[in-house]
Amino acid sequence: MCAAAASASPSRYLSPFTALRRRFLHHLLATTPRPPPPLRRCIQFPRMAQFWTQGSLDKNKALVEHLKQYGALRTDKVAEVMENIDRALFVPEGLTPYTDSPLPIGYNATISAPHMHATCLELLKEHLQPGMHALDVGSGSGYLTACFAMMVGPEGRAVGIEHIPELVAAATENVQRSAAVPLLMDGLLSFHVADGRLGWPDEAPYDAIHVGAAAPEIPRPLVDQLKPGGRMVIPVGSYFQRLQVVDKNADGSVTVRNDASVRYVPLTSRSAQLQDS
Ligand SMILES: C[S@@+](CC[C@H](N)C(=O)[O-])C[C@H]1O[C@@H](n2cnc3c(N)ncnc32)[C@H](O)[C@@H]1O
Repeated sequence: MCAAAASASPSRYLSPFTALRRRFLHHLLATTPRPPPPLRRCIQFPRMAQFWTQGSLDKNKALVEHLKQYGALRTDKVAEVMENIDRALFVPEGLTPYTDSPLPIGYNATISAPHMHATCLELLKEHLQPGMHALDVGSGSGYLTACFAMMVGPEGRAVGIEHIPELVAAATENVQRSAAVPLLMDGLLSFHVADGRLGWPDEAPYDAIHVGAAAPEIPRPLVDQLKPGGRMVIPVGSYFQRLQVVDKNADGSVTVRNDASVRYVPLTSRSAQLQDS
């Protein structure tokens, strides 16, 4: 009797996790502007400008100009990518995407401040040349993963790892509305739900690894997955954090130097992150 009832309406029982996920996706569909009408698969980036509104593009451009004046953006290539990937598409509606500050994206996570995105792109730019492989650990909104994908282009690979499934769903939707959508459709930009402390061996070794959350110490698997000649940028520490630049030398040894003092959410377990949400 019970079995029959269960099999007669198998979809009625939802685990709390599935119910939450459905509510999130429903909310997302209800609040996210519809993607633009059918996208043609095309990898000629300049043509993608047709998918944005001019007002939004102008404000994003003004943000990029501010970052140049502030000194966070120093290279044309990096500025071009940040102009092409409109930050507003990666920020929840109702927030102010073009201010230079981190913003909440749910699940005790944030999209990092634009000057931090610029700083990390500048530090990694030589390791984000066309054809290279990039790993973004703690990809959150997906903003930086999209920038990485644009920089390494159609011959390269950009992988985002995030341990909150709802953020992976949101990041995927964000990229679908951005200039990086052709790379997502072609599987050259991908997001995965996983513990980023273990990296993502499938596409290793990486020329560039970015970690978007602060680790108590540099995770060994990430060093192992770095290519000789490759670079990792990672915030390290708990209360006091330093952005560290880890270069893997040709002989496999690593050189670590401190960059700026920073403040990131921790690179931790999913349960610890969601504890007081
Ligand atoms: C500062 S936030 C997002 C940064 C991202 N670069 C952005 O601007 O949207 C850091 C992210 O790391 C994720 N995170 C924390 N610990 C993680 C882990 N062990 N594995 C994967 N992701 C993790 C969080 O869920 C959060 O989305």
